[in-house]
Parts: sequence; C-alpha cells; structure tokens
Amino acid sequence: MERVYNFSAGPACLPLPVLEQAQKDFISFGESGMNVMEMSHRSKEYQAIIDEAEADLRDLMHIPDNYKVLFLQGGASMQFYMVPLNLMTKYKKAHFVSTGAWAKKAIAEAKKVGTANVVASSEDKTFSYIPKLEAPMFTTDADYVHITSNNTIYGTRYTKLPPSGLTLVSDMSSFILSEAVNVADYGIIYAGAQKNIGPAGVTVVIARDDLVQSASDDLPHMLSYKVQAENSSMFNTPPTYAVYIAGLVFKWLKKQGGISQMQKLNEEKAGMLYDFIDNSQLYSNPVNVADRSMMNVTFVTGDPDKDAAFVAGSKKAGLTNLKGHRSVGGMRASIYNAMPEAGVRALIAFMQKFETENR
Ligand SMILES: Cc1ncc(COP(=O)(O)O)c(C=O)c1O
Repeated sequence: MERVYNFSAGPACLPLPVLEQAQKDFISFGESGMNVMEMSHRSKEYQAIIDEAEADLRDLMHIPDNYKVLFLQGGASMQFYMVPLNLMTKYKKAHFVSTGAWAKKAIAEAKKVGTANVVASSEDKTFSYIPKLEAPMFTTDADYVHITSNNTIYGTRYTKLPPSGLTLVSDMSSFILSEAVNVADYGIIYAGAQKNIGPAGVTVVIARDDLVQSASDDLPHMLSYKVQAENSSMFNTPPTYAVYIAGLVFKWLKKQGGISQMQKLNEEKAGMLYDFIDNSQLYSNPVNVADRSMMNVTFVTGDPDKDAAFVAGSKKAGLTNLKGHRSVGGMRASIYNAMPEAGVRALIAFMQKFETENR
C-alpha cells in the first residue's frame, strides 16, 4: 500500500524521514540492542534522548533560560485543568477568550478551580473569527489570560496577542512550531503533540520559572508543575517513545531550516489553498480573512451531498481525512509542518477536477 496524503487534524501525518529513522532504530536503537520502547527511562541512553529533544526544542523556539520545558502526559486536555490549578493562586480568577470548542473546554475546567471570566467570544458566528480584544477588557484582578492560538476545528488563528499586561497562557496544540513566536510574551505555552510535534501521548509545556514555583505544595504531585520540573519530567515514567519521536521531528525541523523556514513554507502552502478557494465557483471558506489559520483550512461547497461526495472521492484519490469536524461539517485540510507542498498541490488538483465535474 502506498502512503496517502493524510490531512487529519490529529493525530496527524509525520515527516517521512522521521518514520524511516524510527524504522531503522526499531530493532536496536544505536548500540543499545533494544527499541527505545524497551529502554529504562532511567538509562543513560534514554536520558540522552530526552535531553536532546529538550535542547533541540529550546533551539528551535529560542526558549529563554528562565523557562522550563516539560514533557507531560494527559494531553492538552489535562492542561485545561493543570493551568488553573497551578496559576490561580492570588485572585483565583482568569480571563478567557472563547474562540471554539477547545477554549470552551478550557473554560469549563478552569471553573472547577476558580472564576473563568469570558472577556470575548466568537460563538455568535460559529467561531469564524477572532474577537477584537482591547485593554479595558482585561481587569487586573486576574491571575492570567488564556487564549487558543489556533482553533483546529474552525480554522482561525490569532495574529495579535491580547493587550492585557497580564500573564498570557496559550493552548498552542495546533499552532506550535508552525510560525515564529516570542516565548517571552507567554507565561505558559502548552500543546498536545499529535499535530505538529509527534505522536499522541506526550504534551509539551513551556513554563516560566516564577509560575512553576508559584503553586501550592498541596497539589497532587502529577498535577504540579513544580514537582514535574524538579523531577525533569520524570516524576513517573514519561511517554518515552513519544518523546523519542518528537525528538526526531525536532531534528527534522532543524534540518529544514528551523521555524522561520517552516513558517515560509506554511504561508506558501496555506496561501496556495486559500487562493484557490477564493477564486473557485464551488468552494468557499467561512473564516474572516485576517484570522485564517495556516494549519487548518476549512471549506464548504454549500451542499452537504456534494461535501460528502468530495470526501468520498478524495479518499479514493489518496487524499484522506478531509471531512470537516462533525460540529461544523464541510471539509477541513489540516496542513501541519509535515504535510509536503506536493500534498497541497495534489489536493488543489483534486478540488479542481471535482469542481469541473460538479459545477
Ligand atoms: C487546540 C486544541 N486544544 C486541545 C486539544 C485537545 O488535545 P488532547 O487530545 O491532547 O487533550 C485539541 C485536539 O484536537 C486541540 O486542537
């Protein structure tokens, strides 16, 4: 079976060279005589793997020294709870911008810890835009502001940060490593790995030292940034294989020229696709143009039967997982870093053919 172009929103496609390297290492990683999965997380070999993964991520994102990098479990969803638990220390309150289903889940979890104040929402238009944010919305009686940098389901992304002056926390699950960010603008960045980092099972948290230290000592160990940081992500057994694959992805990214080069490619890939949609007689993209995601490109034909025919036909053509999220319908092409430009070109060629046949 030939490999397909997999447009899944996550778990998503991985770079082929990463899979090939993992295949080479499968029976014996280096001189170890075993797969990384079989290795003690306390071994010298494994320590080198996780240390290198961290060093490469620091390099790629220019992470300042006063930030910890944690490799945790529980997905981004666990961070929805872990962030308020660790950060709602003074006011027991945080400001949220509600830009989609994931933001709403983060809000729901935060409410279990303290006050989750929704300063703005784009739910009135099915989350098809990023609300305009102004300084007075962000009263200073809050421990932090939470945003979702890229909204995987609706295909929107922030291009400007909230003007709050408060600690900024971002769910970057479908945004991280896709374009340059200044880590120092954030208190906490978190991301489930299964889109732009590696396999599901590891969650990356980048946390400023003072925030790592600020939580109460009474928190359950596994939910405490302080305990996780003090134990260098090895309070318990980390997701060893997922970290190893993430490490290979980081090396691949460095070889591609790092984040600036990736951003350029992502702009080109997304630009090509949006241009095609904008010039088409059949497809449209419902998102406010200025807020369009580079990672998740949504489009509809306006006819659910045609959408279904598109999804079925594209699958036959080796272009998989193009069905939009069940809550919005239509189509969604997730074009993370690992999706080659050739995949986007193949998609556009199919869209063109389908349009000619279905006009
Ligand atoms: C923006 C965003 N946040 C959170 C999640 C949930 O991630 P996890 O399944 O790792 O908990 C997703 C998953 O698709 C997502 O896209």
